[in-house]
Amino acid sequence: MALLGIETLLYGVDDLDVAARFYDDFGLEAVERDARGVRYRLPEGSSFVLRKSDDPDLPPAFLKGQGPREIVWGVDTQASLDAIAAELARDREVRTDPDGTLHTRDEAGINIGFRLFDRMDLGVSGAPSENNLSGVIRWNQHRKWYERATPKLINHVVFGVPDVDRAVAFYVERLGFRLTDIMRGFGMFMRCDGRHDHHNLFFFRGGGRLFFSHVSFGVETIDELMVGAMQMQRQGWTSDVGLGRHRISSLVFYYMDSPAGGQTEYSADSDYLDDDWKPRMWDQAFGQHHWLAVLPADARIANRGVAEPVEGALPKLDSTIRAGPA
Ligand SMILES: [Fe+2]
Repeated sequence: MALLGIETLLYGVDDLDVAARFYDDFGLEAVERDARGVRYRLPEGSSFVLRKSDDPDLPPAFLKGQGPREIVWGVDTQASLDAIAAELARDREVRTDPDGTLHTRDEAGINIGFRLFDRMDLGVSGAPSENNLSGVIRWNQHRKWYERATPKLINHVVFGVPDVDRAVAFYVERLGFRLTDIMRGFGMFMRCDGRHDHHNLFFFRGGGRLFFSHVSFGVETIDELMVGAMQMQRQGWTSDVGLGRHRISSLVFYYMDSPAGGQTEYSADSDYLDDDWKPRMWDQAFGQHHWLAVLPADARIANRGVAEPVEGALPKLDSTIRAGPA
């Protein structure tokens, strides 16, 4: 089996016009647009779809308020899709569309689907190499210039969930996701078995409830991310913490409040992992940020810490809480 990432992310939104303006400004390419909604297509071949919250054809809401209504994961082959259908039908209702798409719910109550995904080459070229003091790679050549950001892929989604252990076990044990890292006592990162970005899914402790945190769209480089961030600032879209880099995953990020629900993120420069990677346990304040461009007064950033290897295949989140000082 290989899951290839998010094939379609479907949202139900309260104000379609405002939501569409945000994602138009964000740089997504609309390929269908009418009174019911907008479908954006990413260069990898995935779709991001906005529909009005009260559209009777949407799957039932699983969150309070607007935001995701379904996450459809892309699958490599019909044999994989059949295997997923058989596995999940053991303990839950799995509905199959005439085109073969599967629909069900995960252990956190999130609507999920599965569909064949012919994931495209991203079509990026001429990406600049970073000159630094220990290695000049770009001689007699300026960097690639971007006029605007055009996100290439859906990188990850993040939810607060009532029971992280139960939510994560479903994806790891039933769907072959790889655990990639843990924030001690807080949350777990996973990637699809057919993807190498540091994470495609992150679940964290939601204080007893299920809520949506954010979706991340991948751009080519930090330059493209910054051009996008400037464009969004000019259009009046706001960010709480602005630009930064996570220590876990190395992702450079720029989060914005989305009028469609939760936050939406540009991300770049992920770590890429394969099955040789050994997941680690990180203290939250150490792992979350390497740096932030603007430091909020209440920011908890630790410059010292350790990332220790995970013991066992999939530990319980409570067992990862540090007993004493690092
Ligand atoms: Fe993120």
